[in-house]
Amino acid sequence: MATAPNECTCSCLKVLDNPVAKKMLMALTGFGLVGFLFIHLIGNMSLYAGPGGINVYGQTLHALPPIVWAFRGAMLLLFVIHVWLGIKVTLENQVARPTPYARREYLKVTFASRTMIWTGAVIALILVYHILHFTIQMLYPDTAANALKDVLGRPDVYTMVVASFKKAGVALLYVVWMFAVALHVSHGFHSGLQTLGLASEKTLPLWTRLALCVAAFFFIAYTSIPASILAGMVN
Ligand code: HEM
Repeated sequence: MATAPNECTCSCLKVLDNPVAKKMLMALTGFGLVGFLFIHLIGNMSLYAGPGGINVYGQTLHALPPIVWAFRGAMLLLFVIHVWLGIKVTLENQVARPTPYARREYLKVTFASRTMIWTGAVIALILVYHILHFTIQMLYPDTAANALKDVLGRPDVYTMVVASFKKAGVALLYVVWMFAVALHVSHGFHSGLQTLGLASEKTLPLWTRLALCVAAFFFIAYTSIPASILAGMVN
């Protein structure tokens, strides 16, 4: 039988012809990425303990290559699935009626919900910059952690991060990035809870407030790093 142009040809992907399965997978991968944001934030907060904090964190991370690569692989898979489904759902919604929901839709259209594809694009683009900057360390070779060793011979992640955020343009770019992350999470978090059947008309206002708190928490905690460095509070 001929396959409709929009249908998945591989049988293992057939489940993704189901709009509810697509939304559920988007919600689950989104929550996985929010989990990464929490873990990454805890690691980044060690910057406030000085070079002895974040340099130990960086060294410990790289001392276990199989675990690091397994974690990176899992995160990349979540990211690719989430982005691919986000683009697919947005394109499908443009040519057809919005996809039907398994449960009644209680969410209001907001600025955050209407701009999900754009905040997603900003997050992905600046993420590429971030990885070139801090992981591959090819953008500012003079202050790359692998080039500057600390007094104990460890890659100096502390000096790399502090030197980067002393540049106002770089600090500002990260603030814009965090704003996009917060906006994206503020809608994605409660929309995902609803998709997974965890929100009802009664509980949705509570989840909406929780989503706003999670988004504000990420914004304040992540932005505190470039802001405190630019303000000269961390040297
Ligand atoms: C002020 C905010 C942030 C700071 C200071 C920061 C710092 C860092 C540092 C130092 C690394 C390199 C770790 C290493 O290889 O030793 C890194 C890697 C990374 N960061 Fe961030 N980060 C921030 C925000 C974010 C955000 C918001 C995201 C996600 C949207 C993110 C995603 C990543 C990813 C995917 C990597 C690569 C991890 C790996 O190498 O396995 N970061 N970050």
